[in-house]
Amino acid sequence: MNQTTNLASATASASRRVAPGPRGIPILGNIPEVRKSGGLIQFYSQAHRAYGDVARLRMGPMDQYLIAHPDHVRHVLVANRQNYWKGVAMNRVRPLLGNGLFTSEGEFWQRQRRLMQPAFTPRGVTQFGEPMVSLIQRTLDRWESPARAGAVLDIGQQMMTLTMGVIAETMLSIDITRDDVAGNAAEAGRAFAYMLEYVSRQSATAFSLPLWIPTPANRRFNASSALIQDFLGGVVRERRAAHRRDGPQQRDLLDTLLNVRDEQTGQSMDDRQVYDEVITIFFAGHETTAQTLTWLWYLLAKHPDVERRLHDEVDGVLGGRAPTLADLPNLPYARMVVEETMRLYPPAWIFVRESYNDDEIGGYHIPAKSMIVLSPYLTHRHPDHWERPEAFEPQRFEPEQVAKRHHYAYFPFGGGPRTCIGNNFALQEAHLAVAMIAQRYRLRLRMDGDISPKMMGTLRPAEPVLMRLERR
Ligand code: HEM
Repeated sequence: MNQTTNLASATASASRRVAPGPRGIPILGNIPEVRKSGGLIQFYSQAHRAYGDVARLRMGPMDQYLIAHPDHVRHVLVANRQNYWKGVAMNRVRPLLGNGLFTSEGEFWQRQRRLMQPAFTPRGVTQFGEPMVSLIQRTLDRWESPARAGAVLDIGQQMMTLTMGVIAETMLSIDITRDDVAGNAAEAGRAFAYMLEYVSRQSATAFSLPLWIPTPANRRFNASSALIQDFLGGVVRERRAAHRRDGPQQRDLLDTLLNVRDEQTGQSMDDRQVYDEVITIFFAGHETTAQTLTWLWYLLAKHPDVERRLHDEVDGVLGGRAPTLADLPNLPYARMVVEETMRLYPPAWIFVRESYNDDEIGGYHIPAKSMIVLSPYLTHRHPDHWERPEAFEPQRFEPEQVAKRHHYAYFPFGGGPRTCIGNNFALQEAHLAVAMIAQRYRLRLRMDGDISPKMMGTLRPAEPVLMRLERR
């Protein structure tokens, strides 16, 4: 596993200073404190406040180092990245995503990334502009009647349907709004949601029973997995057969995955690999964007001044017509609203790395085989790097403001070679969706009080965000 001995020995820790942290109890360490503090988000936030930028935590068998300073984020993701891998934590995600881009490592990951990257560059994702606009348009048309009736909608569910629709359309050319596929897709969506919840619960516990033990939760996980394999596996097999029969086609991302060849070896992906990449992208490509948009409508409803400025921009630039990609550079405020939403509520609020060898971070010793917890949630609210960190202020993302900040004070998509491959896709989709929805509807919150975030794989609102649509 350890391919980095030479490099890592060059960076081996000079310091033996142990990072501060709560003592904890034998075997379980700090696990009982997580529940006492109200959940993982609160536990990590308190640990950062109490112990500073490098905190040592004991979560069962493994020592964890929670880091929050942008310099340390850069160290782990970029400067000394050879000393870190995604680690054994990925074993818990593999039942969901197989050996796709998210979970794989080493040369295999590198090859897959090289093959898939061209479709996801800023230029590559422009091919998805039209299907995105058309899918969003159809969703907005379907909203006309609930808007007239003054119906209250669960906006989280609506955003999930929207983003799942976009990924189904752009990757598989499947229109999930069609009656004959809507049932299957909805079922697959529910199965996905359950699997995510399961994996997320597993990741938060120190001990878990293997999937072959037939607990009710394991049985439901396995049934959900079978359903998705049936749905997506069928799509991959049919498309492969169509390529064999009719020759290569190029309509969507699935065609790209079936067509790509490694320039160095001439190799293409086999069906299993295509399947793992499809499920990875299908999954990573809708849930995170849906959570961003859900928080965005919640924040806008609470900040009428921001909403007004967004409406002015959209009305001024588009004047009632549907946008094209060429309009996006003229809608900078809409984009800033998306970015500021992901600052306060980054969907991937934590992610982890594991050290191969000893290292030093912030003057503290990091032993080999430690888990490093990086938290966009904490860094994005770091009081040394953000003024009024709790306030929703999209103008922070004006270019002059961005230029003044540490590059790694903001990293909702991660950083370094393993940066989210879908970042351009997600930003393009969210930008279009915000402009198009704000152009036609105002979303009014139908509940009092604040909604707190809850960790459920991604950072979700702890309760359904109920909103009424008003036609503008
Ligand atoms: C707001 C939306 C999104 C957020 C916040 C997000 C966040 C992230 C983050 C933080 C990582 C890095 C994890 C790590 O380094 O451990 C990641 C990786 C990844 N994301 Fe996203 N993502 C989003 C949307 C998407 C979309 C739309 C797609 C696909 C269409 C996608 C596909 C992936 C894949 C395949 C990886 C693994 C990349 C690799 O390791 O090479 N994501 N994402």
